[in-house]
Amino acid sequence: MTADPAALSRSLSRARARASGKVNLQLSVGAKGLDGYHPLVSIFQAVTLYETVTAQVRDDAAVTVALSAVPGYASDLAGIPTDERNLAVKAALALKREYGVSEGVDLSVLKGVPTAGGMAGGSADAAAALVACAHAWGLGASRDDLMRIGASLGADVPFCLLGHTAVGLGKGDQLSPAMSHGEFHWAFAVQAEGLATPEVFARFDEQIDSGDRLPGVLEVDAAIVSALIAADPVRLGAALRNDLQDAALSLMPKLHGVLDVAQQEDAFGVIVSGSGPTVAALAANKLHANQIAAAWRTAGAAPVVVTASGPATGAVVIDG
Ligand code: C5P
Repeated sequence: MTADPAALSRSLSRARARASGKVNLQLSVGAKGLDGYHPLVSIFQAVTLYETVTAQVRDDAAVTVALSAVPGYASDLAGIPTDERNLAVKAALALKREYGVSEGVDLSVLKGVPTAGGMAGGSADAAAALVACAHAWGLGASRDDLMRIGASLGADVPFCLLGHTAVGLGKGDQLSPAMSHGEFHWAFAVQAEGLATPEVFARFDEQIDSGDRLPGVLEVDAAIVSALIAADPVRLGAALRNDLQDAALSLMPKLHGVLDVAQQEDAFGVIVSGSGPTVAALAANKLHANQIAAAWRTAGAAPVVVTASGPATGAVVIDG
């Protein structure tokens, strides 16, 4: 594919985009397929925790990245690579290849989604980097193109581009927007150490192989869909489900205590987010979310505790 010349002449040389993290309201996981991936049925909700990526075009072909964190929001940056393994860098390189871009880019990533927390922070970096670079390089890329390139970078990247609420099938990357009304309020307990997604899936496989559990039922949960349409946090809380939760708990048993504290605060639902270890508690309103967050802090349940609401937007240019 080549860049649209008219769009290229509009090249802005600098653009900033942001993408939201997510929580899985449903994460049903089937037995591992021959490609090493697990078939999923997921209902994603984007939440108001953001990764912000600034793309500054360079004359040479280099792609660089610098990382910083929103104070008090993200975990340690030390474990995130800044070379070609970095998802924002991968996103820029994929766009460069696809459109034959000769220029490079300096990326600055401001992280507000917990790192390695099961909230798609890395995927949100990739989504925001795709949108920021496409804009800064003036590629005139369609959303469909960005979704396709995003899917090649990671299973959660297409949802981070799309945002709001969506049902994901396949690896979680075959998306259909889902209806949702109202605003849902969350508290999140973020651990200092992350869990690696492949390890959590591997523990899930072990649990199936040893007969401790069955593969998940791959059907969209009607109770979640109807609670979203009804804007009903009580019903949504009762219906939250995550087939990876037992695997995450067995890799990090202290999460049991984190779940207990939120339940004692009458959270409508408490769940490990995605592959964990972030624990998400659904609250009645913002005040209740703050009350759950305060209880977690008092109990020393997690070094970082944040509140947010959903649904939030997908990846959008905010400056440039
Ligand atoms: O696609 P992504 O890079 O986010 O996935 C990370 C890892 O998680 C994969 O390499 C795979 O081990 C596991 N995974 C899986 N099934 C999925 C999604 C991810 O087994 N549907």
